[in-house]
Amino acid sequence: KKKILLFCDPGIDDSLAIMYTMLDPEIELVGIVTSYGNVTKDQATANAAYLVQLAGRNDIPIIPGASQPIQREGVTFYPEIHGEEGIGPIQPPSNMQYQIYPFDTIRLIIERYRNEIIIVDTGRSTTLATAFALFPDQIKMVHSFYVMGGAFFFPGNVTALAEANFFGDPTSSNFVLKFAHNLTITPLNVTQFAVITPDIVDTISKNRKNIYASMMAPVFEYYYEFYKKTVPGIPGAPIHDLLTIILIKNPTIVDYIYYDANVIEGIEAKGMSYIDIRPTSKTGKTRIAIKLHYESFIEEFSKVMLPE
Ligand code: BDR
Ligand code: CA
Repeated sequence: KKKILLFCDPGIDDSLAIMYTMLDPEIELVGIVTSYGNVTKDQATANAAYLVQLAGRNDIPIIPGASQPIQREGVTFYPEIHGEEGIGPIQPPSNMQYQIYPFDTIRLIIERYRNEIIIVDTGRSTTLATAFALFPDQIKMVHSFYVMGGAFFFPGNVTALAEANFFGDPTSSNFVLKFAHNLTITPLNVTQFAVITPDIVDTISKNRKNIYASMMAPVFEYYYEFYKKTVPGIPGAPIHDLLTIILIKNPTIVDYIYYDANVIEGIEAKGMSYIDIRPTSKTGKTRIAIKLHYESFIEEFSKVMLPE
């Protein structure tokens, strides 16, 4: 089983990523680290706790991380995309009880699953960068890193140049991109094509073995409304974060290039990601997704979301 420690900000596509890990017998989610991003840190934490509780997996540690970027300003939430509470119209029950774990749990989890643990970051980079700074010895024990972020070919989705996760805290993103080993990035220019369409959602909604079936249609409809308004003609809604999880299992659903990736921290082009592709430049250490094979993506997605 793939052992995954997920840093996230649920968020609809983060939520779908959590659901997927709950449904996939080949993945073992060993912890969720929650941060500000699509919603506040507290809301992201409650949402993560709710989704694992629905799967009867209260044993998965939920670890709250950063509530703001290290620059301490420029936090924007995205209710129009993800809903006021982050899972479209769905809200965790107000009386929900759940346990949260201290930040040091990240260290313990990495030590426990040393050499096989995969860290996935589908949120702003602040919390993962903090873990790098606090636990450098343990970070070396991580098998590999997967980060959803950046737009290496434009446009971005927050500004013309920048994608939301790298825009949120570009200093931390740069730090992670520089120091993470075995790093794969799934940027917006690939994830934007990982769209799920109303017909697939309709089929999932009718699948009795998918414990999240009843949520799928309302959550998707909320999310798709935003994309219909902003991307004319788009046939469905892109599940950026979930694509990142899927390609851990099947890396062949995308093509890659290898470069060192950078993020601009300054005001004018804040959060812009770039690689040096001049003919004279050398290839680098980071595996960057560049092209999606849509049919294979849908096949992998359906295998798990439509349990038999
Ligand atoms: C990324 O930003 C967030 O809003 C999404 O959850 C995803 O992680 C896409 O740019
Ligand atoms: Ca996210």
